[in-house]
Amino acid sequence: MALLEGRVAIVTGAGRGIGREEALLLARHGAKVVVNDLGGSHDGSGGASQSPAEEVVAAIKAAGGDAIANADNVADYKAAQRMIQAAIDRWGALHVIVNNAGILRDRMLFNMSEEDFDSVIAVHLKGTFNLCRHAAAYWREEHKKGNVLNGRLINTSSDSGLLCNVGQGNYGAAKAGIAAMTIIADKELSRYGVTANAIAPSAITRLTVDAMGRGSVEDTPQAMIDRAGPAHVAPLVVWLASEKAGNVHGEVFRVGNGRVNLFQGWQAARQVGDFQHGVWDPEELGAAMEKEFFASPVAKQTMEGLMKEMARA
Ligand SMILES: NC(=O)c1ccc[n+]([C@@H]2O[C@H](COP(=O)([O-])OP(=O)(O)OC[C@H]3O[C@@H](n4cnc5c(N)ncnc54)[C@H](O)[C@@H]3O)[C@@H](O)[C@H]2O)c1
Repeated sequence: MALLEGRVAIVTGAGRGIGREEALLLARHGAKVVVNDLGGSHDGSGGASQSPAEEVVAAIKAAGGDAIANADNVADYKAAQRMIQAAIDRWGALHVIVNNAGILRDRMLFNMSEEDFDSVIAVHLKGTFNLCRHAAAYWREEHKKGNVLNGRLINTSSDSGLLCNVGQGNYGAAKAGIAAMTIIADKELSRYGVTANAIAPSAITRLTVDAMGRGSVEDTPQAMIDRAGPAHVAPLVVWLASEKAGNVHGEVFRVGNGRVNLFQGWQAARQVGDFQHGVWDPEELGAAMEKEFFASPVAKQTMEGLMKEMARA
């Protein structure tokens, strides 16, 4: 039996890039898929177009699968609810949400407009909340009726948020927020048979083809996509979507270029004082911190280090 036989999935932003590959591979493994994409430009501007989603639906059907297109904006709370209802109306149930839709409006904070900030937060953070919110209510209700659907939330974070990339104060904040929301969602929903996990993909797509740098002067955008594109991301999403991944809870995975990392979040690395310590004098506190925290810094992975590693690959 196919890994996702009988499973119904929604993939947002599935008309292009990583979401497209995720939708195609989910369908290839037996899932029925709502292919959502509003078809805008990479910065969220431009008119909505159903055609990227319809093209992916056509490809799924041509390969013998089943899918429907949806051109709603994930940032619209009520539209997200309709999207979920459309899947249930069509196939009788919903098992998997892949929150992937995204835009970029990179600016240094001192140049970032209110609209640059709001639009990126709306698509990524609010959009992820919208789908999670309505799916969570549905799975909880079904569970109360004794119908355990083994729901799967798979949200899309980013190194930009987890390692904090310069020029992406809007996007990084949204992506770090998505990682935190995913872990909270998992804690809230595991009792209903649901798992929530996040991926931090790296893949050459239209969002990243300029930022990633070419391996050589002969490198074309298409050659880069073929070598390090979304095909490397989709297998993890298929596995997380399956009932076999029922023990994977509240994790964040970096995935792309042939490798997967297990991410670990904020941790208390070092400590001065303890619960018995009185109120610190500010200068004494500063001196203690200089000695214990910063004299021999804790080794950290940085965004700059990651970019160098990827340039070498
Ligand atoms: N490519 C990477 O290396 C990389 C790295 C980290 C994170 N990500 C994240 O992965 C996801 C996919 O990125 P990609 O590189 O495939 O980008 P992409 O631009 O190729 O695809 C994103 C898709 O989302 C759609 N979309 C945008 N706003 C939408 C909205 N409001 N409602 C519905 N659809 C909408 C777009 O039309 C587009 O087809 C994004 O969340 C992105 O932030 C990508």
